[in-house]
Amino acid sequence: MYIIGLNVFHGDASACLFKDGKLLAAAEEERFTRIKHSAGFPKESIKFCLNEANISLNEINFIALNRNPKNRIFNKLYYFIRNQLKIKNFINRYKNFKKILSLEDEFLKHFPNVKHKIRKKIIHVDHHLAHAASSIYSTNLNESNYITIDGFGDFLSTSVGVFKEDKIIKTNEVEFPHSLGLFYTSITQFLGFKNYGDEYKVMGLASYGKPTFLEKMSSVVTFDKEKLFKLNLDFFRHHKEGIEMSWIEGTPNINNVFSDKFIETFGKERLENEKITNKHKDIAASAQKLYEIILFKILNNLYDKNQSDNLCLSGGCAMNSVANGKILQNTNYKNIFISHTPNDSGGAIGAAVVVQKKNKIKININSIKNPYLGNSYDSNYIKKIIKKRETEFQEKKINIIEYDQKKILNEVALNISEQKIVGFFQGRMEFGSRALGNRSILADPRSHEIKNILNSKIKRRESFRPFAPSILQDEVSNWFKVNDQVPYMSKVYEIKDNKRDKVPAIVHVDGTGRLQTVTPETNLRFYNLIKIFQKITNVPIILNTSFNENEPIVRTPDQAINCFLRTNMDVLVLENFVLRR
Ligand SMILES: [Fe+2]
Repeated sequence: MYIIGLNVFHGDASACLFKDGKLLAAAEEERFTRIKHSAGFPKESIKFCLNEANISLNEINFIALNRNPKNRIFNKLYYFIRNQLKIKNFINRYKNFKKILSLEDEFLKHFPNVKHKIRKKIIHVDHHLAHAASSIYSTNLNESNYITIDGFGDFLSTSVGVFKEDKIIKTNEVEFPHSLGLFYTSITQFLGFKNYGDEYKVMGLASYGKPTFLEKMSSVVTFDKEKLFKLNLDFFRHHKEGIEMSWIEGTPNINNVFSDKFIETFGKERLENEKITNKHKDIAASAQKLYEIILFKILNNLYDKNQSDNLCLSGGCAMNSVANGKILQNTNYKNIFISHTPNDSGGAIGAAVVVQKKNKIKININSIKNPYLGNSYDSNYIKKIIKKRETEFQEKKINIIEYDQKKILNEVALNISEQKIVGFFQGRMEFGSRALGNRSILADPRSHEIKNILNSKIKRRESFRPFAPSILQDEVSNWFKVNDQVPYMSKVYEIKDNKRDKVPAIVHVDGTGRLQTVTPETNLRFYNLIKIFQKITNVPIILNTSFNENEPIVRTPDQAINCFLRTNMDVLVLENFVLRR
């Protein structure tokens, strides 16, 4: 049985494909359109998934969507009527509702050879149930508590519950207009980061500030034992005006959600190109702190009701790796599980899992744990691309060598230890927003200068943003204060005080690092590379940042070559080929 999972008509549109419970392929549409967080209908991702399995849409049994607009329809209507919302807002929601329900038209537009009735194959799965399934079914747990937490999806922003006897049992939820995700978005917009998905910038900035606004901010969101938490709606607009998300031609955009009271309380909002001051840093630090306080209270409240050692965490807010890294310290949970795609793109996997469970199909957990689900290109293909661009390389004096499997990692590790910046392109592209060694830029963590070089000359991004360490799993306890498995860079932990000087390029201003733990099982070639680097330098860590320059992560060898030529990267590894300046 073939099942397609989709996140559609929303930011981070994506598709995945399962065959008999095994996840075969998954991709985010942004990698094809080259528009960050691309929204709309993920036609290229669907085509890619079908190609990987060498099948046509006619062979698909079900199409699972991580959204069900019919859910809570009466609650929505009641809310609109009771609050006398603007008619425009109601029409916008109705249009989105219709669009999701008329998905068949989109399929017919892009797949004209479809013979069967698509409508009969489409199954709508509740947004937060899909989030929950995406994290729970990427573990081998028999029982666990879970939380899903995001902006909004199907009129909910949060759900908590229990997983036992192979069932996901929701015990509490938070409805529109209350949302921790939206609270974080409002701070992000207020601090001048206006792009969809910029919340991680506030998280990075928070480490530079002090939570001096915490007391004032505490009135914006409050914990509530029964309702989990409440927003003080005086600080927001969305409950009256709705959240207008436009995504024509791909880029998702959300209107400002903070109100005038927000400005009265916290001062003037930062303009996009305005200098970042200490006040902005302190607001970011206060918002991060408040988010953490409320999150830990919700998690402890859930633990009091069901004492499990395990917690599965998903939803867009599960991308907050700083908060995730503090859960062990601040709650009784012993194991925290976060999938490689806790955000909406991963909801495609969750929706497909839910539909398969309903059809009594056994889920292949290992296939979901594996984040390497995208395009790959063999050496012959790469050889052809290099040949095609031969003159360009000659003009730019690029030296090209094809190595054998054994030698290449020694050469690349040596280059990294010589402070060269290396674009590392191998195997299948990662699903999700993190580069985990297959579409990565790698550098020496021991260098004091590399952070600035990477930020200013390669990535062209804000100087306050940290770089992540990829570390051998066996070495975590020697370098970090917490020993844990973090295969997808989803948690930030403190680096041991006596080790910080040894790896300045990956130590954030507060002494932390958003680590990726690497094992031979997760990524053998990347593991071996770090192992060789360790032999040369005595450091089992390589700096790992996504292979891109202010754009979606590269997907194809051509895109990797373009990025290499555009920037000041020293070395480009394309499978067994090494290009050097
Ligand atoms: Fe979501």
